[in-house]
Amino acid sequence: MRLSYVLGLFSALAVSSLLQAGASAQDAVERRVDDLLGQMTLEEKVGQLNLVSHGPPLRWEDISEGKAGAVLNFNNAGDVARAQALVRQSRLKIPLLFGLDVLHGFRTQFPLPLGEAAAFSPRISFLASEWAAKEASYVGVNWTFAPMADLSRDSRWGRIVEGFGEDPYLGSVLTAARVEGFRKGGLAASTKHFAGYGAPQGGRDYDTTYIPRAEMYDTYLPSFRAAVEAGSASFMAAFNALNGEPSTANPWLLTDVLRNQWGFDGFVTSDWVGIGELINHGIAADGAEAARKAVLAGVDMDMMGQLYIRHLPDEVRAGRVPESVIDESVRRVLRTKFRLGLFDQAPIDPARTDDDFPSKEARQAAREVARETLVLLQNKGDVLPVKSGTRSIAVIGPLADAPQDQLGPHAARGHKQDSVTILDGIRRRAQSAGITVSHAPGCDLMCGSTDLLPAALDAAKKADLVIAVFGEPQELSGEAASRVDLRLTGKQIQILEALAATGKPVALVIMGGRPQILGPVAEHVPAILMAWYPGTEGGNAVADALFGDVNPSGKLPLTWPRATGQLPLYYNRLPTGRPTLANNRFTLQYIDEAITPLYPFGWGLSYTQFAYSDAAIAKRSLESGESLDVAVNVTNKGSRAGQEVVQLYTRDPVASRSRPLRELKAFEKVDLAPGETKRVTLRVPVESLGFHLDDGSYVVEAGAIQVFVGGNSLAESAGEAEIAKTIRMPPEERRASASTGLAQ
Ligand code: GLC
Repeated sequence: MRLSYVLGLFSALAVSSLLQAGASAQDAVERRVDDLLGQMTLEEKVGQLNLVSHGPPLRWEDISEGKAGAVLNFNNAGDVARAQALVRQSRLKIPLLFGLDVLHGFRTQFPLPLGEAAAFSPRISFLASEWAAKEASYVGVNWTFAPMADLSRDSRWGRIVEGFGEDPYLGSVLTAARVEGFRKGGLAASTKHFAGYGAPQGGRDYDTTYIPRAEMYDTYLPSFRAAVEAGSASFMAAFNALNGEPSTANPWLLTDVLRNQWGFDGFVTSDWVGIGELINHGIAADGAEAARKAVLAGVDMDMMGQLYIRHLPDEVRAGRVPESVIDESVRRVLRTKFRLGLFDQAPIDPARTDDDFPSKEARQAAREVARETLVLLQNKGDVLPVKSGTRSIAVIGPLADAPQDQLGPHAARGHKQDSVTILDGIRRRAQSAGITVSHAPGCDLMCGSTDLLPAALDAAKKADLVIAVFGEPQELSGEAASRVDLRLTGKQIQILEALAATGKPVALVIMGGRPQILGPVAEHVPAILMAWYPGTEGGNAVADALFGDVNPSGKLPLTWPRATGQLPLYYNRLPTGRPTLANNRFTLQYIDEAITPLYPFGWGLSYTQFAYSDAAIAKRSLESGESLDVAVNVTNKGSRAGQEVVQLYTRDPVASRSRPLRELKAFEKVDLAPGETKRVTLRVPVESLGFHLDDGSYVVEAGAIQVFVGGNSLAESAGEAEIAKTIRMPPEERRASASTGLAQ
């Protein structure tokens, strides 16, 4: 018998036994769930659906009385241990989920997700999430309210900082990587906010959203589906109403799509008092009706609303909510707890503390991640990196020395005293080069006055190089931080213009949670580096880039507007009947601003230059099950090593419905030594080249597909492929994106 056959047989047996093992493990969980559920009173069942935050109204005895199935904001081992001891006093001893917003770190803060997305690297997203989870789970947290998978095209919305920007493919890949990274580090994910929350009217957080179902499937749902396929343990329903139906009581979202089409069998929690807010939404007259509508739609757990615990037993006894619905919600919660191994876990050691962090390794990881997020937006005259022969640097700006702000919003247990500020980082690096460093804030954090400008100008005039650090203080970013005007706040533009007018070379480092409107600064300040909120090690990472110890490789995960009024603004837009024609106002135009963005999606420079050549499509006519394979030569034309994110975009020029002008379908980050050429092949399954219909089914229509390959969304044409025959897929069959495979 040929060896290959034996191996084949063996591997088949191994696979089938693994599958059987998986199935039997799943069966064992279901049996344990059934057994426990069968012992529970109605009150104990509803208790499992109650999620309460640390402190009032939670009474510690609620836990021993079985009135909470999960708690949040227990961020230290002492409180976790106390709660676990109270569980052991309860009748059924059902362990708690300990949830916390561990978004971008626990004690060691990593860059905010929007910055992380600029790395265009599932490996980086996995690494950051794994570290966050390791630190949080060390003190007993076992559930995080992350990743935020909300796609957004409107930077007026402050929470854009918590997501991965404007592209469904990038968002899907990175969401999957974060779910897997959290799990590897010991945290169950609660992917949020389901769904459409990132498209509020006017960019106003919590406001209503209108998104056609086909657009939901094409744009706003793919990253959530990727989370299901990556094994997200739970989901969080969103605050917003979607097409008039609040997401927290939306059977289409919570049951038709999430469960019936995607097969999700974990549980859904509301957002903070999201169930109670159904009254404000005008679909419930009182708490009882809100509780009833939410649980019947598919929300299994009530975060901080106290409505399930108060009303569901009566709703069941009155026959308005079948007990089978409660049982199914409890089953989902118990299934998750069994899958996480909580019933077999030893109690946490109450002496554990997050003061053991940041470890040296955590700092190294945080610095590595932050380095890859930095986006060199422009570098006229190669002002950066700092030239040899530079003798003095003036660091100007309040955000250069802002240890709390660089951590960004939602920083869990991040401590500002752990931060290496940008000023610290520059000073440390400059010292080793014998360069003197002065610092003048130029203004305070909100930059409301120019009283400190003279001292800043004085420092600038005495230096060889000015490094300005301005942007968006962290309190202006995150939840409940919608802005109508995204210009650099206060007097920042005036101060930067004055610095530029000194004639000294100026490099601007922007800190913030979104693109900011730069006005004349983009013209007068030659070098601009976007640092986002770079986290605990941000200062070292930024200094590494400024001095050229690392070559910036970040790419914009969203479009950078010239003016707030251009928003919403995104690259993967639909065509119009009047595409822009220069000097013809009766085409897509503004009469008071250019129609183009300041920097496009996928944009980011390097200290070297990359050239693309010899693009080739392997197989032009494609059938179902095949892939669009595009190979291209990428050459490092400069004298420095660097990383380039090679991006592949497609367009369906003629279809039964208008299709986006470009869609990112694949990317790969490659390292290139000076002068090196690599032939990079990007692969796109043909089943990813279509679009959804309102019922969630998917179609790849026969006809041409245009292909573009390059270093940003303005990539050059690489020719055309052809879909030989139309492919149709029902909703259940459509896969959002393959797992990243990083968890193995
Ligand atoms: C908030 C947020 C949500 C967060 C939750 C718990 O209001 O919308 O993202 O996870 O409350 O803190």
